[in-house]
Amino acid sequence: MIKGKPIVASIVGARPQFIKLAPVAAHLKAVSRHHIIHSGQHYDYDMSDTFFDQLRLPSPDINLNVGSGGHGRQTGRILERCEKALISLRPQMVLVYGDTNTTLAGALAAAKMGIPVGHVEAGLRSFRMSMPEEINRRMTDHISSLLFYPTPTARKNLTTEGIKTGLVNSGDVMYEILHMCLSLVKNRKSLFDEIGIVPGNYILVTLHRAENVDDPKRLSSFVSILRNIEGPKVFPAHPRVKNAIRRFKLTKEVASIPDLILCRPQPYIESLALISSARTVMTDSGGMQKEAFFLGVPCLTLREETEWVETVTRGANTLVGLSHTKIMRALKKRPTGSVRLGKYKVRGQAPSAIIAEAVAKFLDTR
Ligand code: UD1
Repeated sequence: MIKGKPIVASIVGARPQFIKLAPVAAHLKAVSRHHIIHSGQHYDYDMSDTFFDQLRLPSPDINLNVGSGGHGRQTGRILERCEKALISLRPQMVLVYGDTNTTLAGALAAAKMGIPVGHVEAGLRSFRMSMPEEINRRMTDHISSLLFYPTPTARKNLTTEGIKTGLVNSGDVMYEILHMCLSLVKNRKSLFDEIGIVPGNYILVTLHRAENVDDPKRLSSFVSILRNIEGPKVFPAHPRVKNAIRRFKLTKEVASIPDLILCRPQPYIESLALISSARTVMTDSGGMQKEAFFLGVPCLTLREETEWVETVTRGANTLVGLSHTKIMRALKKRPTGSVRLGKYKVRGQAPSAIIAEAVAKFLDTR
């Protein structure tokens, strides 16, 4: 049995992980000496610091400063530098979040050192192994001791792959943090004037997945789709898509699209405010599909499949890929059913409280 509070390290590095970490960090403080390791995968102010500030996250204890790079280089650098960080922090457990290169490298570094891993948002599958995220999440799940799954589908995916121990029905931490921030979202009314849009009268667009952005043909067809959509379109551009637009010489074409407002990546509260007042959300982001679903806003997902199948079966999300026909048809159609904000707790407990409790219990019995 561990004497005193155990040491737990959370390893994060990309935008969606800072969001997931926020509620968990608050609860882990009560049961552990909690350290945050930032891989440095995302490093721009808009992609990192703004989330720490807005979500009142404690500053990372260690920043590995890996920056961008190819998958091998980025994952390898995180793995190597994480090992050093874990040697100095000596945690009894490591928590990783989601499905980025930081998730896999952090989990691998810990598992190889014999440190048990807890995976927040375990069990999600797209069943498309060409996606880097699918590789990351599968590998991470198979080396984790605690698997915090958010949906019954995620649980089923894990058991089908033979993972039967350490499963914890935590619910969804992204749903929880959204609830916690709702009043701030409602107060962010000036945003619409700042951007120059009328609430309810615009489409919110985001695109950042490698399979959509790094292929010039797919990116060009996305740009011509945007041109054909009437009315205001707000497009907060991830650096990956901004760079690709420049690289594939599409800058002039994008600039000439009528009613397109291209803006910087938005902080968390602003992003939720933009989703909640959008006519429709068009995105390839996993997080935004869910946020649109939670906020009752119809979503068109610019992919062929989704890990969040419930959003589709409940009629709030339509998979359209980058098909002009499917997108135009879906934009004309009234959504068959959207889901209003319901309960985010599981058996009366918040997801982050369930995670912290399970971590404490797990370490107590070792
Ligand atoms: C990563 C995740 C993806 C997640 C996304 C959230 C992987 C494999 N992918 O994708 O699952 O949905 O984060 O945003 O881990 N860049 C900057 N500044 C930054 C960060 C990135 O300019 O602060 C640019 C660089 O040119 C970089 C590119 O964006 O090469 C891509 O960044 P990277 O972290 O490799 O992947 P994401 O596309 O952000």
